[in-house]
Amino acid sequence: MSDRYFYEPAQGHGLPHDPFNAIVGPRPIGWISTRAASGNLNLAPYSFFNAFNYTPPLIGFASIGRKDTLRNIEATGEFVWNLATRPLAEAMNASCAAAPPDIDEFQLAGLTPVTSNIVAVPRVAESPVSFECKVSQIIRLQGASGAETNTWLTIGEVVGVHIARELLRDGIYDTAGSRAILRGGGPADYFEITPDSLFQMKRPSYP
Ligand SMILES: Cc1cc2nc3c(=O)[nH]c(=O)nc-3n(C[C@H](O)[C@H](O)[C@H](O)COP(=O)(O)O)c2cc1C
Repeated sequence: MSDRYFYEPAQGHGLPHDPFNAIVGPRPIGWISTRAASGNLNLAPYSFFNAFNYTPPLIGFASIGRKDTLRNIEATGEFVWNLATRPLAEAMNASCAAAPPDIDEFQLAGLTPVTSNIVAVPRVAESPVSFECKVSQIIRLQGASGAETNTWLTIGEVVGVHIARELLRDGIYDTAGSRAILRGGGPADYFEITPDSLFQMKRPSYP
């Protein structure tokens, strides 16, 4: 028997739990606030999320299915990303409830919406970092055969950045002190960034 377990995802993984998102993990969380065309507020976490460019700064997240967040962004072109931290973990989790579009997850999760500087979508007051974003692309993802999936990748340009001053130490953003949480695999695994998990390594110069 080989020392490598091999499977082709199209044929099934054959394991008690799909290892895919436990392997590509922990993932940062896109905790996204939006506003519906009707004005209703919405907040939900997305862990198929990351940053993709410096200039202009671009971030993106994938909606598996056409969820309220995607629909709101299609309607308004705007969203706000909020950093999910350990003290906010339970509120972040509460905001993922599959609530009807008219339910405001800020209220549901006991969070305070605060007016943004540039976009009409509020940020989460309790979160120490928020990015105000304007949508740049919405892409329906395809498999290798070109077959369309039921997943939409939303990319947005970060047009405004809010950082709690306590996380700026001598002007340097303190990732290790942020207590950011990340999503692991399985139904419930999360990781918290702590100072003891930090190590440093400079890029090699060549030649
Ligand atoms: C930590 C976490 C990460 C999640 N990541 C995703 C994701 O990447 N894509 C997705 O479609 N749903 C994801 N979900 C589920 C959505 O948050 C959930 O479907 C939510 O109800 C969507 O809200 P909305 O309809 O208001 O946009 C995640 C849930 C949690 C708790």
